[in-house]
Amino acid sequence: MTSSTTTQTSTLPNFKATLDTTHDTNIEIPRGPVTSSLIFYAPPPDGSAPWNYVETPPEGSPQRNYGEHPHEVHIEDIRGRESSFHLNRDAFATISGVSSEEKEFTDDDHIKKVYYPEVEKLLLDNIEGAQRVLLFDHTIRRSDPNAARAPVNRAHIDQTVASTQLRVQYHLPDEAEELLKGRYRIINVWRPLNGPVVASPLAFAASHTVKDDSIVPVQHRYPHRTGETAGVKYDDGMKWYYWSGMTNDERLLLQCCDSKDGARVPHSAFVDPRTQPHFPGRESIEVRALVFG
Ligand code: OGA
Ligand code: FE
Repeated sequence: MTSSTTTQTSTLPNFKATLDTTHDTNIEIPRGPVTSSLIFYAPPPDGSAPWNYVETPPEGSPQRNYGEHPHEVHIEDIRGRESSFHLNRDAFATISGVSSEEKEFTDDDHIKKVYYPEVEKLLLDNIEGAQRVLLFDHTIRRSDPNAARAPVNRAHIDQTVASTQLRVQYHLPDEAEELLKGRYRIINVWRPLNGPVVASPLAFAASHTVKDDSIVPVQHRYPHRTGETAGVKYDDGMKWYYWSGMTNDERLLLQCCDSKDGARVPHSAFVDPRTQPHFPGRESIEVRALVFG
């Protein structure tokens, strides 16, 4: 008899580690509260406004002009009480039991053709008031040192209200004026590709515990245009969470901007001290969505 695991392993060599994890008794999925160090924002020493280059900086320039402030935080596990968190208040939410026809996540065109429509439907079905969704970007992360993008160990918010407005104008120039009169949000849909996650989990801070003055807009300099992200200053009132052992059929919604209620979620990967050297590195995809209505 061929077990489903064997079948999947033979068609998905890249994800062998994934499937083994579930059955590997040497791996105990880290769960429950944990303490780890996150990197927070420190202002540029010369008092200038903060910026970073998305790609290679101009000759002689550093990648970014602001600093790092590592700080230990207590991170609570939301597993088992997922329903006590709400997108409008906390700026994060969870969805479980989501299936997908996209299995490989190796080809961007295929991801756009197969995975994007699933994410669009998921958002329309689950986000209160959502009338229209535009997916504008995705990032695949692998912990492998040769991977294009690795987990981000720096507390940040991907977008500000100003850069969300620019995004709307950029992607929907003819409709932007009208769309910006209504409610607009940016929501990232995050999931592991080799769950359960046992390394570099994602931590997120409940929006209502994050003061406005902890959030610092940072110029995000692309080669041909400048957007805006936000750095996050440490504050001991912030409450940090993670969702232990996230599986491939779970989705974490991370709201970066909401023009109506303003909830926005600082987030960062963290080094879990319970992760052992033989545990597989985390692989994930986040899809970024403009949500209207
Ligand atoms: C995101 C993000 C970082 C990570 O999804 O917006 O910042 O390590 N992810 O997955
Ligand atoms: Fe992010």
